[in-house]
Amino acid sequence: MENLKKKEFQNSLDLTSDELERYIPELLKGLWELGSSPEYIIELIARNDLGKNKSIIDLGCGKGAVLVKLAQRFDIKAIGVDIVADFIEEANIYAKEFAVSDMVEFKTENILETLNTTTKQDIVIYGYDSDLLGDLDSTLKQLKNCVKEDGYILLEFMFAEKSTEGMINNKEMTNIIEQTGYRILDRIDWNKETLKQTNRQNTGVIQENVKRLISLYPDKEEIFNEYLQNQIDECEELENDYFCTTLLLRQLND
Ligand SMILES: C[S@@+](CC[C@H](N)C(=O)[O-])C[C@H]1O[C@@H](n2cnc3c(N)ncnc32)[C@H](O)[C@@H]1O
Repeated sequence: MENLKKKEFQNSLDLTSDELERYIPELLKGLWELGSSPEYIIELIARNDLGKNKSIIDLGCGKGAVLVKLAQRFDIKAIGVDIVADFIEEANIYAKEFAVSDMVEFKTENILETLNTTTKQDIVIYGYDSDLLGDLDSTLKQLKNCVKEDGYILLEFMFAEKSTEGMINNKEMTNIIEQTGYRILDRIDWNKETLKQTNRQNTGVIQENVKRLISLYPDKEEIFNEYLQNQIDECEELENDYFCTTLLLRQLND
């Protein structure tokens, strides 16, 4: 697709080669949540009383787990966009299954396109899993375009204990957020044990998918195994070296 930031797209799904793209639906078969933590988003919306009559957009919604779960619980009108058409197809199936199709619309679209065309929403959900919108500062500035002035951003973000090349720490994260005109209204730092368990389960599913794919396409064994190993490494890095957090942000009005 035109203007698709390919490298960032691949990073968002931890793909290790171009060739893997056509196998994405098969590699992620059997998984609904693809990295976000819907429970923390639900908790932040509930305890800040934001679940009434809200318009929401989820940028990079995958198979729709976050929005379908939100729609089951809150009074929302939501749009989810993702570049992978198979994910959107599956998201629509889940929406039907959980009887929320009238509250949630899913569409196949490039986020970069969505940011130029969407109307301003009460809540924007974005999982920062690649440099698609640049660094944190640039990401927040772009997300501002699709959130109402009195609206909220729910941002999933990863930081390091000490800043290194390419990673910032908690303090820097907070400073950048404030410099871009936002403040952290509330946050949930992810529980490491829960994350480990989720990662183990997901890796198990992916491992089975990889086995099946290797038996179907033995000449591609190397790229499938490389993908699996990368998945394992990324999980370990996330669990041991970094911290994940879900932030509820609101614009500072001064
Ligand atoms: C790590 S997954 C998270 C999906 C979802 N939030 C979840 O947790 O279930 C990142 C998603 O971003 C999507 N994505 C990456 N680049 C995109 C782009 N330029 N436009 C739309 N979606 C994109 C991927 O297809 C993928 O579904």
